[in-house]
Amino acid sequence: MDLRRGGWAREVDAELRPSHGAVPAGLAGTLYRNGAGNHLSDYIIDGDGLVSAVTFTGGGPVRVRSRYVRTPSYAVSLDARGQGRVPLRLGGANADGGPLRNAFRTPASQANTSVTMIDGRLLALWEADMPWELDPATLETFGQCAMDGVLEPRGSAGRRGGTPYSAHPCWDPAAAELWNFGCVQGPRPRLEIYRTRRGGPTEHVRSIRMPRRYMVHDFAMTATHLVFCLGPVILDLGGFLSGRLTAFEAMRWHGDEPTRILLVPRDGGPFRVIETDPWFQWHFAGAYDDGDDIVFDLVRFRSWSAMHEAISSLSHLTDPASTLVGRLWRYRVGSSGKLESHQLHGLPMEWPTIDMRRSTTTHRNVYGAALNHAAAGVAFTAVARYDTETGEADLHDYGPGHLVSEPLFVPRDPDVLDEQGWLIANETNLTEGTTNIAIFNAQAVTDGPVCILPVPESLGYTFHGQWVQRSGDPL
Ligand SMILES: [Fe+2]
Repeated sequence: MDLRRGGWAREVDAELRPSHGAVPAGLAGTLYRNGAGNHLSDYIIDGDGLVSAVTFTGGGPVRVRSRYVRTPSYAVSLDARGQGRVPLRLGGANADGGPLRNAFRTPASQANTSVTMIDGRLLALWEADMPWELDPATLETFGQCAMDGVLEPRGSAGRRGGTPYSAHPCWDPAAAELWNFGCVQGPRPRLEIYRTRRGGPTEHVRSIRMPRRYMVHDFAMTATHLVFCLGPVILDLGGFLSGRLTAFEAMRWHGDEPTRILLVPRDGGPFRVIETDPWFQWHFAGAYDDGDDIVFDLVRFRSWSAMHEAISSLSHLTDPASTLVGRLWRYRVGSSGKLESHQLHGLPMEWPTIDMRRSTTTHRNVYGAALNHAAAGVAFTAVARYDTETGEADLHDYGPGHLVSEPLFVPRDPDVLDEQGWLIANETNLTEGTTNIAIFNAQAVTDGPVCILPVPESLGYTFHGQWVQRSGDPL
């Protein structure tokens, strides 16, 4: 696909055949991914959600399907296709027509950031609105999902109001619970916390008032706590509501303020706040309890300012001088509130993932997309495994002209909790505009893919995905 403004990926429905290697015989399940299928502004994140499903059948045919989520934004984008204008207020761009056209409007819900599965429901997620429910087999859009009525829809015509459900829910396989939050801005900025037990309805657990209008994208969870890191990226509500600033322009970096680490007990009770030096992050890799300590890994950036500059231009996806440089850090909070932290590895990376079976317990390996400057490179050209015990990285670098997505770990045997398995990533060939599904041995990433499955149409640059192995739950 064309990663420039105005580019659109087409929907696809096809059988895939390897151009290299063979599909591992034991690989059975579906890889769902989501991303911006079209590019409606210069911002990387402004595009309608294109959800893809690649289904492996344990030695049988592999099929791919992709479908846009049929949001109102998608319908408007389709009407305006090829006209070179921004028809709606988006996260990174205001609609053409000036501030009055944008004032008091929330950005169009694009359902483009991630997917999750709970009790057989496939949800396309975007952090500032309710999820969109899709048919897991056909990817047909059923409609918006209020999670058993606990979420409040936005007001009519995209006006203010409503309670969102973030794009980063966390599944705890031991408890069979899916937790998530919604970050509500406005006069009473707060985090709303939700839990869905397998087979049960979604519950609203609690509200936590925030002292500032923080931008909160992700959280991590241990067996006992939810972990939020509230970096000082704070919404200028007046600038946003007036239509003068886009949503992302209105997110301001306050580098003289601390990052607040918020620890919320899963079983209720008072939360704790630890203040530390400021940083910006999108994503956690994982978290766990170590005795009374809480340990979590995340990709840390110097500040939001550099990140905002980077995401404001599609060219930064392919720019060797990109400022999209984050590094993997580990934090440990003791019961007394004592905080320790250190960088785990020096290689720039993003899209951190772990074996989802370990989402709330200890993990050794963190997987991600790496920016390998040694390759005279382009942003995110490498698939990487970071070993948090040895401190070593094991990576395969495609080099200039390629972009890799978030790699996801698939266990070789879902009932054996070891490090054996595969990593699956989408690799975009920028010259040809195509997507390849690349399968690696997770213990030998450096060896390169054991199987490459070319997709006849681009799947777009996907942000997040989920592997669904054999039931209606994640993994
Ligand atoms: Fe994300």
